[in-house]
Amino acid sequence: MGIRGVVLCVLAVVLQSCTIAEVRADNDEKPILYKDASQPVAVRVSDLYGRMTLDEKIGQMTQIEITVSNESSVSKYYIGSVLSGGGSVPATNATVHQWTNMTDYVQRLALKTRLGIPEIYGIDAVHGHNNVYGATIFPHNIGLGCTRDPALLERIGSATALEVRATGIPYVFAPCIAVCRDPRWGRCYESYSEDPEVVRSMTTIIDGLQGRSPADREGPYVQNSRKVAACAKHFVGDGGTTNGIDENNTVIDYDGLVNIHMKAYPDAIAKGVSTVMASYSSWNGIKMHANRFLLTDVLKGQLGFKGFIISDWQAVERITDPPGVNYTLATYLALNAGVDMVMVPYNYTDFISVVKNLVAAKQIPMSRIEDAVKRILRVKFETGLFEKPYADESLRSFLGAPSHRALAREAVRKSLVLLKNGKGSQSLLPLNKNATKILIVGAHADDLGLQCGGWTITWQGQAGNNITKGTTILKGIKQSVSANSKVVHLAKPRTGAAKNKGYEYAIVVVGEEPYAEMYGDNMNLTLSSSYQELIKDTCSYVKCVVVMVSGRPLVVEPIVSHMDAFVAAWLPGTEGAGVADMLFGRYDFQGKLSRTWFKRVDQLPMNVGDQNYDPLYPFGFGLKMGLNDR
Ligand SMILES: *[C@@H]1O[C@H](CO)[C@@H](O)[C@H](O)[C@H]1NC(C)=O
Ligand SMILES: *[C@@H]1O[C@H](CO)[C@@H](O)[C@H](O)[C@H]1NC(C)=O
Ligand SMILES: *[C@@H]1O[C@H](CO)[C@@H](O)[C@H](O)[C@H]1NC(C)=O
Ligand SMILES: *[C@@H]1O[C@H](CO)[C@@H](O)[C@H](O)[C@H]1NC(C)=O
Ligand SMILES: *[C@@H]1O[C@H](CO)[C@@H](O)[C@H](O)[C@H]1NC(C)=O
Ligand SMILES: *[C@@H]1O[C@H](CO)[C@@H](O)[C@H](O)[C@H]1NC(C)=O
Ligand SMILES: *[C@@H]1O[C@H](CO)[C@@H](O)[C@H](O)[C@H]1NC(C)=O
Ligand SMILES: *[C@@H]1O[C@H](CO)[C@@H](O)[C@H](O)[C@H]1NC(C)=O
Ligand SMILES: *[C@@H]1O[C@H](CO)[C@@H](O)[C@H](O)[C@H]1NC(C)=O
Repeated sequence: MGIRGVVLCVLAVVLQSCTIAEVRADNDEKPILYKDASQPVAVRVSDLYGRMTLDEKIGQMTQIEITVSNESSVSKYYIGSVLSGGGSVPATNATVHQWTNMTDYVQRLALKTRLGIPEIYGIDAVHGHNNVYGATIFPHNIGLGCTRDPALLERIGSATALEVRATGIPYVFAPCIAVCRDPRWGRCYESYSEDPEVVRSMTTIIDGLQGRSPADREGPYVQNSRKVAACAKHFVGDGGTTNGIDENNTVIDYDGLVNIHMKAYPDAIAKGVSTVMASYSSWNGIKMHANRFLLTDVLKGQLGFKGFIISDWQAVERITDPPGVNYTLATYLALNAGVDMVMVPYNYTDFISVVKNLVAAKQIPMSRIEDAVKRILRVKFETGLFEKPYADESLRSFLGAPSHRALAREAVRKSLVLLKNGKGSQSLLPLNKNATKILIVGAHADDLGLQCGGWTITWQGQAGNNITKGTTILKGIKQSVSANSKVVHLAKPRTGAAKNKGYEYAIVVVGEEPYAEMYGDNMNLTLSSSYQELIKDTCSYVKCVVVMVSGRPLVVEPIVSHMDAFVAAWLPGTEGAGVADMLFGRYDFQGKLSRTWFKRVDQLPMNVGDQNYDPLYPFGFGLKMGLNDR
């Protein structure tokens, strides 16, 4: 390792002002192994680590937001990673070029530092490259769970990787492998299923994002520069909090934690997942970000995870125990628990000086810094960033490519679940494409923002057809019906609008407003009263199919008897034509509920396998139209 440097530290009070000066190791005569791509990664990591000052090491452990990234942060503090938070974009409707200009700019700032260690730029691409105008937006995970199609998930991962790389980004904070056990949780749609086995089977998305890791290979794996480093999140128990309150406490014994919430992690690790994000939540009262047993002993030890652990956004500040905890103590707890990189993401000077002081005071041992930095460097080498640090402009056409949109449309088709089809023996679906007059009601029928949900262009998502490019459900319906059919859409019809107007049937599209994270926590899970009235009113005059656009099951028990047919469409994304494909019978339904459809919220939490399981529609339920039988 050579001379490691001299630490001159004036320790006035523990954790107080320390000045650290390091003498650079004299490595000039040594071959620069870390720059040599033919060297094994372990050799490159050791070589590079041996050349680094403490400042450079701490910089690698620091992730900051793009809005505070410039020469005086990235270059001066040797920042190891930059992210775009939800909705943080170079410009409204930014082009691919504006994205790559931004990511390349940050990369240049990193590469001009002494050792030229490239950035790993990260982004939440959780249902396609969802911050980017014009990207393909796939259904949210709750819908993908209903497909039960691991091969489809792998293809979605590949498409997402290409769209993300097209903007110069090599790292995504996905997939979320939470096992949502209570749909009152605002992040429930980010979970594939309440069933750990379904969640496990969906980890094939990692194969698509990163490329399939060879079976004999251990540790982080990113196949080539058309693939991205992935992040399994949020370790662990994020989907098990009390009453589904976001970031709250998951009360469960260790076996329960392992057999439900941790179940998919060994799969993700076997696939070479590059990073794992710690959960904001607590396990039996202890914040996950401060849980050394689970992060270090279990995840890095027992499960053999060799990538790096990243914190969630400002999660260190959210460590609240012990009472009166300050930022220094919180940082001490998180880093010693095993967090390797902290998503600071704004107050990087505070973070860096606190870590320096903790190291100087020997409160964070150098062995911990070494473990963290080597894990980060390893992922950077595996991701090929030293060889190809900049955006590949030739990938530009992948963003929102027609083949990706076709894939998303297929995903929509496979994710829809048919819950009811007709009263008595008379089925309504498939609908007659040749009907002379068709009524479509509900604002959700013609709104890209509503059908995409949260984490779309902005963090919380927003209504509107100008948010990005795509096909609304209404547009898909218009494309499906015969040229002679008259389609009437009324977003907010007056009572009785369906009466005596000669409509052959109505398609009633209802749902939730967009939300993300804690803003989506909801203790009543009701459909708005205006939508309930719309269903009752419309269905009283004309045969109706209700299409529900929502991030989770909602209470429908009292109104489902009014509906002739009922389809759960979840949050389908930009390719609304996939909904019409199903309603008009271009394909038969194959989606099966990834969650239990409860009757009343007072039943929650209620999951498949529970005693007293009394759902409206059980986990795994899903009807077919029986197209082949006709
Ligand atoms: C760089 O960004 C910081 C915020 O992190 C800001 O305070 C500073 O003025 C910026 N410096 C330059 C040179 O733009
Ligand atoms: C490219 O990035 C630089 C640095 O952030 C910025 O000043 C410039 O306006 C950007 N140009 C375009 C075309 O986005
Ligand atoms: C859980 O939520 C309750 C109610 O909001 C709050 O009082 C409590 O502090 C939260 N617990 C944790 C661990 O976040
Ligand atoms: C933070 O809390 C620790 C432990 O309670 C204490 O020793 C330290 O002085 C505090 N530091 C600051 C900067 O308040
Ligand atoms: C940065 O930290 C200071 C106190 O250390 C706090 O007042 C401020 O709100 C923090 N800023 C952000 C963006 O978190
Ligand atoms: C559709 O309806 C038109 C008249 O409204 C009729 O001429 C045509 O044959 C119908 N096509 C099918 C496939 O039923
Ligand atoms: C963004 O694009 C939408 C169309 O999708 C357009 O309506 C809107 O005006 C554009 N906004 C800006 C700021 O360019
Ligand atoms: C979309 O239109 C709404 C309402 O006109 C406007 O407030 C919003 O800024 C627009 N969004 C974009 C991305 O242009
Ligand atoms: C249900 O909960 C949501 C989220 O807290 C709230 O906005 C809404 O008003 C509630 N609805 C009813 C009917 O209580």
